[in-house]
Amino acid sequence: MEITSEPLYDVSSSFWENFDRGPRTLTDQETSRLERLSDEICNLEKSSGESTRVTLFGKTIPSPVGVASGPAPNYRWLALFSQLGYSILTYKTMRDRRWIGHGMPNLLHVEGDFAHGFVSHAGVTGSITNSLGMPTPEPGFWRAEARRVAETVRDRFFVMSVTATVGRETSEEDVLSQFSSLALEGKNLGADAVELNLSCPNILPGEGGETFTDAKLSGRVVDAVRKRVGGDYPVFIKTGYLRDYREFVEETWDDRVAYVAMNSVAAVVRDRDGVPLFTDRGGKAGICGSAIRELARRAVANLAEQRTGGRDYKIVGLGGILGPRDAVSLMKSGADAVESATGALLNPFLALEVRLRLLQTKVRGATHR
Ligand SMILES: Cc1cc2nc3c(=O)[nH]c(=O)nc-3n(C[C@H](O)[C@H](O)[C@H](O)COP(=O)(O)O)c2cc1C
Repeated sequence: MEITSEPLYDVSSSFWENFDRGPRTLTDQETSRLERLSDEICNLEKSSGESTRVTLFGKTIPSPVGVASGPAPNYRWLALFSQLGYSILTYKTMRDRRWIGHGMPNLLHVEGDFAHGFVSHAGVTGSITNSLGMPTPEPGFWRAEARRVAETVRDRFFVMSVTATVGRETSEEDVLSQFSSLALEGKNLGADAVELNLSCPNILPGEGGETFTDAKLSGRVVDAVRKRVGGDYPVFIKTGYLRDYREFVEETWDDRVAYVAMNSVAAVVRDRDGVPLFTDRGGKAGICGSAIRELARRAVANLAEQRTGGRDYKIVGLGGILGPRDAVSLMKSGADAVESATGALLNPFLALEVRLRLLQTKVRGATHR
């Protein structure tokens, strides 16, 4: 791993401490490196006449590189990711009620793989857990913060991620009503799209994290939301890993939908003495970062395969993007845009490094035309 910066999120502190304190301040060295990268992009755009600009659901943004739902739970965090050059800014998933989420541990650096299991690690490995449980401040707070984002970062594509709070007693009607009310709120707050989180791996079975595995139920959620937000409003659907998305796409697609693939993947994690962690919340935690890179590539490629017969949905690829090469690989597999969560927290230069690589590739392509 070639990451030399301190993570933006303090993994030794709780989610709420990170929420209150906000991201750490960038060092002078980091700020000057960001300026150098921006200058390099600007100069290359001017000299080549090429650009990384893309139009997503009618809105033109500087690049197809975004921060995923998760790293940014309030305005200060989103403002930082805007400053770091992310063109798609996704709010962390919010519920319609205050929710404390899980205690520590939350984010742990881990090493390992799905075949052999994961072990927590003291240093940066490129893979982390994101066991937070979708904590949510008072809805009045997140609404005000989201409105502020929508009003101040108009040159970015702002996505509001939402989810339903599901328990054993919750009826399907209630789930559909929560999703559709929250989606409408996102629209009314000024978000460019709403993202339906159907795939959080950090809540217990039966709490809605596995909705994406039920294509028909997912379809009913999207239909209910569509009815409420109208036919034109972009709806992002956050899915987990499926080997084959055929039925899921059949039940959920329309041409104002983007599939965001994919969420983290649940696994058992042990400490270095072999003791299982996260036992107070079902024994598993979502694994993000390099450990899921290959699964994410397969997810994007499979979603791209289903885009036949006039289907015109978008694909946002994410999972394991820690550097430009990973982003290019997901775009080659069929993603229209890419996002990062782990990489965005570990590497403050990621968005601009990816943008520069995409631009260089375009310029090379243009000179060979
Ligand atoms: C700290 C953290 C918090 C996250 N919270 C959310 C969330 O609230 N909603 C969501 O849909 N995904 C959440 N995710 C998952 C990411 O959006 C992403 O799908 C996953 O981490 C894979 O991307 P990555 O490999 O770039 O991390 C979170 C990830 C991290 C690292």
